[in-house]
Amino acid sequence: MTAATDPALLDELLRLASRVACDAGERAAAGRRDGIEISSKSSVTDLVTPHDRAAEHVIVSALSAARPDDAIVGEEGTNQSGRSGVSWYVDPIDGTTNFVYGLPSWATSVAAGDASGMLVGAVFVPALDELFCAARGRGATLNGRPIHASETGALDLALVATGFGYTPERRRHQAGIVAHLLGQVRDLRRLGAAAVDLCYVAAGRVDAYFEDHLNVWDVAAGELIAREAGCVTSDFSGGPPTPRQIVAANPALHAGVLGLLAAAGDTPTRVETQA
Ligand code: IPD
Ligand code: CA
Ligand code: CA
Repeated sequence: MTAATDPALLDELLRLASRVACDAGERAAAGRRDGIEISSKSSVTDLVTPHDRAAEHVIVSALSAARPDDAIVGEEGTNQSGRSGVSWYVDPIDGTTNFVYGLPSWATSVAAGDASGMLVGAVFVPALDELFCAARGRGATLNGRPIHASETGALDLALVATGFGYTPERRRHQAGIVAHLLGQVRDLRRLGAAAVDLCYVAAGRVDAYFEDHLNVWDVAAGELIAREAGCVTSDFSGGPPTPRQIVAANPALHAGVLGLLAAAGDTPTRVETQA
């Protein structure tokens, strides 16, 4: 039996994802209270702290101990191969800039998938003590209670979240899209953590979210949570969502958001890079 068809295995993966996300998030929050040392990665604005690396270590150690045959990919360098067919995707701190500045929107994001896509996802937001979870085919929850996408159907009443990359060139391009959208929706939000953005669409706290040029660990858990909460997810052209281009919106808004993105001139061809 595969994870997709074995309910006990799905239970095990979901429990494990939730546990390691909470453990690592709590450790990072506690570590931050003791001090913070900052360095940068891909650009001066792309920050990393010892807490990012420590949180990844907590997660990878626990996953390896519980499921030694699974593959694990993590933002802070983990790249372990496996032979079980299950792979884990770990963002130990999504929203490191918020973490550094003491803003609450940062999360630990953990997902497991197989060849057919994501099986389980857990996103823990320590500052708010909120755990978002989903398992394939079972819906999505916030602290154990079911969550659902919003029902707003009018684009001009839609609250839309987005995010920006770390290089000036990318940001200039993203600013063009935002400039096009801003006059056509209720408002925009830049919360600073892709995993949190996706969970907020899932919970109806925003009506839609889009971003480009992310990585698999940014979206693996949140995309499943959004979809299991009833959102439609895709790339900017309506194809399968990828880290390179992701849109998540309530079903009434999704086509309209794609239309806005197309009009913003961002969809000459579909980008096929897979999550
Ligand atoms: C970042 C956040 C941010 C998004 C960036 C990501 P990090 O992740 O998710 O919201 O706009 O593109 O890289 O670096 O804080 O893990
Ligand atoms: Ca991230
Ligand atoms: Ca990160």
